[in-house]
Amino acid sequence: MILKIVKYPEPVLDTPGEPVVEFDGELRKFVADMFETMYASQGVGLAAQQVGVARRITVIDLSMGKDPAQKLALVNPEIIAREGRQYEEEGCLSFPEIREKVVRAAKVRIRAQDENGKWFEMDGEELLARAFQHEFDHLDGVLFLSRMSPLKRSMTLRKIRKMQREGNW
Ligand code: NI
Repeated sequence: MILKIVKYPEPVLDTPGEPVVEFDGELRKFVADMFETMYASQGVGLAAQQVGVARRITVIDLSMGKDPAQKLALVNPEIIAREGRQYEEEGCLSFPEIREKVVRAAKVRIRAQDENGKWFEMDGEELLARAFQHEFDHLDGVLFLSRMSPLKRSMTLRKIRKMQREGNW
């Protein structure tokens, strides 16, 4: 089922997620719906807050559905190590048409549970490292807007206000 993606400034996007404790059919259905929703919007990452649910669940697939090996469901995830620096453009399904450069760690090691509750660790660099950091921020109620430089943030807010005025947001 395709879920509705909420846009900035919907308050749920600022809400830190509750940890998941029950790994049941309802969770697995929600994860499947999140993948379906993300693919329908051609995104590479989606956090539960973006479909109106403040829980620590995110899905990532850099292949956008083309390579099953790249499908990642991450529950209660955390970054356990970070290294280096990258400064690249990011987008967000809750900020349609906005792309801005954001500083992130170049490499991260993460730990998370899968949709069955099994803990795993994995490393990511470049785009995958950015996706981890961007999506895990969502789970803390943090948006990439607050990771932008003050200048880019005010330019972005101006752009959003213009789109809102024109009815395109
Ligand atoms: Ni996002």
